[in-house]
Amino acid sequence: DADGYKVFRLTLQADGRSRFLPGLTTATWGINGAYLGPTVRATRGDRVRMVITNRTPDPSTLHWHGMLLPAAMDGGPHQMIEPGATWSPQWTLDQPASSLWFHPHPHEATAVQVYRGLAGMFLVDEPGGPKLPDTYGVDDIPLIIQDKRFHEDGSLDEDDVDTGPYGFLGDVILINGTYRPVFKVQAQSVRFRLLNASSARVYQVGFSDGRTFHVVGTDSGLTEHPIAVKRLTLSPGERAEIVVRFTAGEETVMNSRGDDSSDIQEGDFDLLRLEAAPTLAASPPLPAALAQPAARPPAGATVRTFELSGTHNIDGTKMDMNRIDTVVPAGAREIWEVRNNGKAHNFHVHGADFRILDRAGQPPQRYETGPKDTVFVPPNSNVRLAVNFTRYTDPTGPYMYHCHILRHEDKGMMGQFVVV
Ligand code: C2O
Ligand code: CU
Ligand code: CU
Repeated sequence: DADGYKVFRLTLQADGRSRFLPGLTTATWGINGAYLGPTVRATRGDRVRMVITNRTPDPSTLHWHGMLLPAAMDGGPHQMIEPGATWSPQWTLDQPASSLWFHPHPHEATAVQVYRGLAGMFLVDEPGGPKLPDTYGVDDIPLIIQDKRFHEDGSLDEDDVDTGPYGFLGDVILINGTYRPVFKVQAQSVRFRLLNASSARVYQVGFSDGRTFHVVGTDSGLTEHPIAVKRLTLSPGERAEIVVRFTAGEETVMNSRGDDSSDIQEGDFDLLRLEAAPTLAASPPLPAALAQPAARPPAGATVRTFELSGTHNIDGTKMDMNRIDTVVPAGAREIWEVRNNGKAHNFHVHGADFRILDRAGQPPQRYETGPKDTVFVPPNSNVRLAVNFTRYTDPTGPYMYHCHILRHEDKGMMGQFVVV
């Protein structure tokens, strides 16, 4: 607009008619459409203004998951948008290239709104980065992974969204809102930006032929080097950028393999069928170096511990909108130790990015060493994080930390901190 802002208009809608299952229509919610939202894309240094109108019947918010921005712009539970109202946060994009996302964050009511379809990706570009596949929709493909359950008439089964130990677990996978997706892929190196936007389910992503592929990015930016893997774990809210090489005419299935460590880790699912073009296209080689190595936490860094407990508490209490749990100095680099003595959880921090220092004293898997904002915390495990906090201060406007299993988040497995 006239004052140099890139303006994005996002309307939360509740009147979607989606076609997922053959011959059936499903009532859904969406952002600027029937289901999910547009991919928002902007470049480091851009000033962005979001104009968000809530056309649903319920109070909502829109949170920029992974974004480093002032707390008042964060779109958490303190920035409610009433039905019919418009909220216009603005900020300067100042963080590395990454695959972020947005979703509602109303206190105690997030799970159902995300399940109905309110979510989308927010890609941050940065000029001068390493050369990775970057033609959107051709060799740079966002994949939003969600589980669903349908009634026979095609309507969304919402049982368990607000009940049960983990809330909703579906038996059908949608990718970008598509049932049984087939993607005709170029025979070359292709980047997929994976987002687990499910309520609770954890995916172990790999391929039916067991092929090796490379992780090039984690939640908040690129990894130091491409990291070869055959499978990677993605818990709710987490992202990974991977590069997969396809040869001419081949077919494979991106899938998820379960294990029975917990209910949310169970089950085998096909995610995306891939059919490569008959002729090979040129691909640049993967650069050996992608990003600077992570700085070690400073000597004497503040250490804080957080206990996740099975009854949806953190440190024995539930989220209280009027209580500040933690005060962090602007730009602080701290060590946060998350202890889980119960069932599976994960842990997400707003207004920060972090590195995984260790899991129960052991170094994390190599593909987990990139910049993160959400981490899986399996049953009975501990993880230590080196957290880098934003420099935006606000003594009264809090950021959140919470389990991103949406049922747990809604049940109050969340705390608030301010940056001063
Ligand atoms: Cu993805 Cu506090 O949220
Ligand atoms: Cu977030
Ligand atoms: Cu949890």
